[in-house]
Amino acid sequence: MPQPRFIVTTEKQLRQQVSEWRLAGKTIGFVPTMGALHAGHLSLITKAKKHADKIIASIYINPTQFAEGEDLGSYPRTEKKDAKMLQVAGCDLVYIPKGSLYGEHHATSLHVGGAALGLETDYRPHFFGGVALIVTKLLNRVQPDIAVFGEKDYQQLLTIRRITSDLDIPVKIIGAPIMREKDGLAMSSRNQYFDQEGRAIAGHLNRIMRACAKEIKAGADIKHATDTAIEALLSAGFSSVDYVSVADAKTLKILPHSLDKNQARLLIAATCKGVRLIDNCKI
Ligand code: PAF
Repeated sequence: MPQPRFIVTTEKQLRQQVSEWRLAGKTIGFVPTMGALHAGHLSLITKAKKHADKIIASIYINPTQFAEGEDLGSYPRTEKKDAKMLQVAGCDLVYIPKGSLYGEHHATSLHVGGAALGLETDYRPHFFGGVALIVTKLLNRVQPDIAVFGEKDYQQLLTIRRITSDLDIPVKIIGAPIMREKDGLAMSSRNQYFDQEGRAIAGHLNRIMRACAKEIKAGADIKHATDTAIEALLSAGFSSVDYVSVADAKTLKILPHSLDKNQARLLIAATCKGVRLIDNCKI
């Protein structure tokens, strides 16, 4: 019997492999990525393997989630290395679409409300529309039983849960914990943009976030604690802070003053040496 290919580049090849696995009674797990993989991505594969028999990852740098002036052109492209890493991690198939996934006459857009509003959307208004489109398209092509997304992009994870529920896409969305470097910096493909000085400053983000979460948990006023965190970030060398916000962990409704009985999440976006970082943690 011929060995199944590990990398497929067309929708036809992808669907053919998926239907062979379906016929054999296998369940399918899916991990979409934009490549430039690191240990955080590999942990998504490990998580997916706990929930499905066959794991498919995709590598596609989705143009619709980048605004003009963002890093679409310079986003690291390391497909060969990525594919090797995925294979070692136990992924069964990588879908690396050849060319654009958007047809010449593509004219559909998606607007997501709820958890997609505010926070990232206040600073990157194009972002969740682009993510919604590509994730919907990829889920339609792969038709997995489960799909895994990292909690590092917490608002993205809730947004994707909203889309799949609202559009009746039959997939279970599973969140995976954030993987961190030794100093606590959340792993991200964009961390490789840092020079030594920037990387040292970036390491303060997690420390400041943890201190803020601890203070709020101990009963501090949210506004006071988040203002203190913003000051600490700026003193540590961050050039700007988009937000340090506390939100309901399920709806992302901002909790301006007190926690009440809500399960709360602290979310941060700040820029250091031209690299915008996001991070979050449970309170
Ligand atoms: O989180 C990402 O890497 C991307 O936003 C995703 C989900 C692969 C869509 O392009």
